[in-house]
Amino acid sequence: MKQAYLIYIFFGPPGSGKGTQSNFLGKKLGLPVISTGELLRYEESIKSPLGLKARRYVKHGQLVPDKLIHQIIAGRLRKRDAAKGFILDGYPRDAKQLDDLLKLIQDKYTPWLIEVKVSDREVVNRISGRRVCNNCGASYHLVYNPPKKGGLCDVCGHKLSIREDDKPAVVRKRLADYKDSADPLLAYGKKQKRLISINGEQSIAKVRQDIFKAIDKIK
Ligand code: AP5
Repeated sequence: MKQAYLIYIFFGPPGSGKGTQSNFLGKKLGLPVISTGELLRYEESIKSPLGLKARRYVKHGQLVPDKLIHQIIAGRLRKRDAAKGFILDGYPRDAKQLDDLLKLIQDKYTPWLIEVKVSDREVVNRISGRRVCNNCGASYHLVYNPPKKGGLCDVCGHKLSIREDDKPAVVRKRLADYKDSADPLLAYGKKQKRLISINGEQSIAKVRQDIFKAIDKIK
């Protein structure tokens, strides 16, 4: 029988470390990391029609309509680098998106879900210290993962900035939406016995270690 390739879906509240950890895992496994948040920010930066439409939602911490997200994801998954597996960060986010993804991948891929758990208080702490590079997408934290040179990106030297949707009121909205929508992902992972739950409230290195350990067990 043909073996399905593994894919990994990171989910967790805003600021839980999905982006940070999915990039570590991508490097370890040699798989592309596909982040819908990153793809949307890229589309916005080049002022594409899709990016401009999405910006109205992202700015206010609202979920971008499924149709747009599906368009982005379906296009990205057609690229050759995703043929033998990939890592998803921030997609799917709810029951409808999970359903869309399962239809899209059919039995070609087997999804594993990685839940990164952190408290609301930690979310606020993390997001208030986050700085991002709009040029290459790298992300830092002023205290926990500071850039080497002041406000400049270690990777490309570009000036770092605060994400538009990291304002406290917008973060509260994103957090509330996450709580409303993530249950189906948990339920699906549990039912399929392909759920890895990680305590995200540890150092970046320890979270990475826990994820790698769990992944090594399933390979
Ligand atoms: P997206 O970019 O996906 O935002 P999010 O899910 O809210 O997640 P974040 O990027 O805020 O956080 P993260 O968990 O990746 O944490 P990070 O590693 O950066 O989406 C943005 C918006 O796009 C959404 O609100 C929505 O509008 C739209 N969108 C995206 N996907 C969509 C979809 N599927 N459907 C519809 N709309 C969609 O870490 C955070 C900070 O903490 C960093 O500064 C980091 O350095 C630091 N940090 C990380 N880990 C640790 C640690 N262990 N200890 C201390 N600090 C840490």
